[in-house]
Amino acid sequence: MHKTLTLLLLALAAGGAAAAPADPLQAYVAQARQADPGFAPAASRGEAFFRLQRAAASGRIACTDCHTDDPRQPGRTRARKPIAPLAPVANAERLADAAKTEKWLGRNCLDVVGRACTAAEKADIVAWLISIR
Ligand code: HEC
Repeated sequence: MHKTLTLLLLALAAGGAAAAPADPLQAYVAQARQADPGFAPAASRGEAFFRLQRAAASGRIACTDCHTDDPRQPGRTRARKPIAPLAPVANAERLADAAKTEKWLGRNCLDVVGRACTAAEKADIVAWLISIR
């Protein structure tokens, strides 16, 4: 009985993961809810996170240093290479692939805050970028 339940839950978990692999917002919200079942993403917190890092400088680079203050605008890497806009409204390829978003947020968060961002922080950032018109 207990074994059957475990197998059922594993099957559900696998099915759930397979159903929404491409959407970073769904992926991060699901992850954040494992720690906090009541979690709901907030675009306002995501925007604050994106902008606050500059004030928290401590010698680290800020999100806005590479992506500008306006995610609808193209940015630049430290090597001056152009970066296409982050907001999906300006760049249809953005936030369409959870693996790509995770790869870049992994690097970017280490550079900016010196640690991995939490799933909740990433959900908020993505929710904000999607909300930009
Ligand atoms: C050192 C420069 C740099 C900094 C600082 C930086 N980024 Fe990025 N970011 C990049 C580059 C380069 C890419 C990949 C660009 C591409 O795909 O064209 C990227 C990609 C991303 C993506 C992936 C979007 C997608 O296509 O799914 C997100 C989201 C993002 N950055 C958010 C942030 C946030 C939030 C911060 C601050 C915590 C930040 N970035 C700081 C350079 C930077």
